[in-house]
Amino acid sequence: MKGKILITGGAGFIGSEYVRQHAAKRKLVVVDKLTYAGDRQRLKAVAKDIVFHKADVANKLRMEAIFAKEKPQDVIHFAAQTHVDRSIQDNHPFIAANVTGTQNMVDLARQFKVKRFVHISTDEVYGDSTDTHSRFKETAPLRPSNPYSATKAAAEFIVTTAVRTYGLPAVIVRPANNYGPWQYPEKFVPVIILKALHNQHVPVYGKGLQIREWLHVTDCARGIDTVYKKGKTGEIYNIGSYFERPNIVTAKTILQAMEKPASLIKFVKDRPGHDFRYSVDCGKLRQLGWRPEVRFETGMRETIQWYRENIPWLQRKRIMLEELWKKVYKKK
Ligand SMILES: NC(=O)c1ccc[n+]([C@@H]2O[C@H](COP(=O)([O-])OP(=O)(O)OC[C@H]3O[C@@H](n4cnc5c(N)ncnc54)[C@H](O)[C@@H]3O)[C@@H](O)[C@H]2O)c1
Repeated sequence: MKGKILITGGAGFIGSEYVRQHAAKRKLVVVDKLTYAGDRQRLKAVAKDIVFHKADVANKLRMEAIFAKEKPQDVIHFAAQTHVDRSIQDNHPFIAANVTGTQNMVDLARQFKVKRFVHISTDEVYGDSTDTHSRFKETAPLRPSNPYSATKAAAEFIVTTAVRTYGLPAVIVRPANNYGPWQYPEKFVPVIILKALHNQHVPVYGKGLQIREWLHVTDCARGIDTVYKKGKTGEIYNIGSYFERPNIVTAKTILQAMEKPASLIKFVKDRPGHDFRYSVDCGKLRQLGWRPEVRFETGMRETIQWYRENIPWLQRKRIMLEELWKKVYKKK
C-alpha cells in the first residue's frame, strides 16, 4: 500500500479523523467540496503532510483532472451530504453528492484502474429495527426510511453492481452513529453540548425513546482502515460498538457529565419517519482483528472537554448554521 490514497470528504468529521490518523505515514490526497460541513481547520495539524483539492465529486470533469494529476492507487470515499433533517427539507443536494458523486467515483476508479475502493455507507441503509434485541447482519435487506438513507442505499447499489459487472475492487463499510471531537453542531451530541454550555434548552425529538448505537470516531476510522487493508473485495462490513442507549438517556448522561440539570431537556416534535432503533452486528469486522477501544463514558467525557476547549469553533459553526437555515426556510 505504497501509492497515493485519494480521500473524498476528508475535511469532514470522520474523513478528517482518518486523515489525521494516517497523514504522517501515507501519501494522502484529500478532495473536499468544503460545503457548510467541511472545514480545513480539522486538517490543520497535518496540513503539511497532505495534498488538498477543493472539488465537488459530482463534477466529473474536475474529478477526472484530479485523478489524472494524482494517479491514486486507492480511493476511500467519505464525501456525502449527511444530515437527515436537511434531506427531508430538500433531497436534491443529496442526490448530487451521494448518488451522482458515487457514480463518478466508481467510473473514475475503473478508468484509472484503482486497486482498492472503500465506500463509506451507513447503518441507516437497513432502516430501523422494530424490536430492542436483534442486530442487523450485513446480509439483512436494505429498507432505508428517510431521503438521506435512500441516497446512501442507492450509492451502495452503484458500488456493489460495479463489483459484479466490472470487477471493481471495492469494499463497503456501514458504520453506526459516530461521536467525538470536530463533529458539526447540527448532530445530536454536539447540539446537546453546545446548548448545555449556554444553559439553553436541549431539544430531544419525540419522547427521546429512539435507540442509537454510539461509536467513537477514532474507533470508526480504525475500523475503516482495517477494512481497507484486510477486507475482502465485494464484501460489506458493519462497524458498531454494541453500546446502545435511548436518546433521552444519552442526553441525560451528557448533561450529568457537564453538571447541568436534566430540566434543560425540551421534547420537540418528532422527526417524520424517525427510525426507532439502529443496531448492527459487527462480528464480521471483529474477525479481521478490529475491536472498539474507546469506552462511551471516557469518550464522551473527552468529547465534552474538547468542545469546552473549542467554544469559538463551535459557536462560529452554530452561527453559520443558523444563517443557513434562515435561507432554507425563506426559500420555502
Ligand atoms: N457521522 C456519522 O455518524 C456517520 C455514520 C455512518 C456513516 N456515515 C457516513 O460517513 C461519511 C462521512 O460522514 P461525516 O459524519 O464525516 O460527514 P460530514 O458531513 O461531517 O462530512 C462530509 C464531508 O463531505 C464533504 N462533501 C459533501 N458533499 C461533497 C461533494 N459533493 N464533493 C466533495 N465533498 C463533499 C463535505 O464538505 C464534508 O467535508 C458519509 O458518507 C456518511 O454518510 C456517517
